[in-house]
Amino acid sequence: MLPQEIIRKKRDGESLSAKELQFFSNGIADGSVSEGQIAAFGMAVYFQGMELGEATALTLAMRDTGDVLDWKQENFPGPIIDKHSTGGVGDGVSLILGPLLAACGGYVPMISGRGLGHTGGTLDKLDSIPGYNSTPDNDLFRKTVRECGVAIIGQTGNLAPADKRFYATRDITATVESIPLITASILSKKFAAGLDCLCMDVKTGSGAFMPTHQDSVLLAQSIVDIGNAAGVNTSALITDMNQPLGSTAGNAIEVREAIHFLTNEHQNPRLLQVVFSLCTELLMLGEITDNPADAAAMLEVELASGRAAECFAKMVNFLGGPHDLIEQPDKHLSIAEVIKPVHLEQSGFISSIDTRALGMAVVELGGGRMRAEDNINFAVGLSDFITIGESTDRPIATVHAQNESAWNQAAASIKKAITVSDSAPELLPVIHQTISN
Ligand code: URA
Repeated sequence: MLPQEIIRKKRDGESLSAKELQFFSNGIADGSVSEGQIAAFGMAVYFQGMELGEATALTLAMRDTGDVLDWKQENFPGPIIDKHSTGGVGDGVSLILGPLLAACGGYVPMISGRGLGHTGGTLDKLDSIPGYNSTPDNDLFRKTVRECGVAIIGQTGNLAPADKRFYATRDITATVESIPLITASILSKKFAAGLDCLCMDVKTGSGAFMPTHQDSVLLAQSIVDIGNAAGVNTSALITDMNQPLGSTAGNAIEVREAIHFLTNEHQNPRLLQVVFSLCTELLMLGEITDNPADAAAMLEVELASGRAAECFAKMVNFLGGPHDLIEQPDKHLSIAEVIKPVHLEQSGFISSIDTRALGMAVVELGGGRMRAEDNINFAVGLSDFITIGESTDRPIATVHAQNESAWNQAAASIKKAITVSDSAPELLPVIHQTISN
């Protein structure tokens, strides 16, 4: 087989076989396919698309370029389940959902990523916990999942290595926006974790990776179709990202919000709805319950009893973090120098929010990165977000900055991101749609 023949076939609109896709994916991973060939292949797929069978074969071929975890020998009494999100602002779902599902009897080997651009990354949030080892060796990862029911860690070098190289080339050759390529990229990494079930959270709106509702639905449908074709029970939710999901954005600040949520001190209602909806899907996909009412009842009990918080605390401790993090978060999580609320001069109701701009304000504060190699400041960010429909009588957010000048800059940016009207706007639902097999 020759890479150029595979590219030519795709360029001319023909279907590729599983063998050809394996050959090409292996070539991406081992370096025998050149960057130019990867770019040409990406562009051919961008224009010609892929059939379901082809995109499924590409996903599996990319997954198989590295380690694929197998949990069978563990004989867990519950299913291996996980969620994935296309990313957003104030989306601290993973930190809450993982322990909550573990408390319900699921096993969650969650491999998450770093933030890039306006969206936050779960891994950066966890790295704000002193001592937390987000890159444990395989033994510690397995042991943590076994003992705590959940382990949230970063991608190791050998999980779907083809994706790393393929994505880097797509990023600089304008082929990120191809639905089969996005699907194969996301699912190859997720499936390397050896899941039985996956629920995908596809965001839509001003802070989403897929900004239009139509594109979000296309991506969600593609993920559900390919996930199920690959033998993983998969469903997807389309959720709203026209405003931040939770009350905070920024690494240590979001860990604090997750702790307050799990310990029942403060639960942002929109965040609660997304957490419960995703967990309900997964409890049903994993056959822990067979109806949404039982799932909701189970989630309420595990949260209210503090068992979900215990799973979080145990995971943090197993992975090297402080044993008293949930009792004393402020003893361990860094705190910014300047913390002050921002008021709008204009009175009225919040009618829209440029969520992406809020995410970029966190990056400007130093809490996110524009290039993969940038360092981040865990302490900075935003909290107490106002929501669409609220009156401007209260501050629009609290800015946590490293100095006064950074605070002023962020305050100006977030003021610009908010639109005010004389009357309260119609509110959008948080969960737009569920897409099942
Ligand atoms: N996230 C991924 O992991 N891959 C893509 O292609 C797009 C978003």
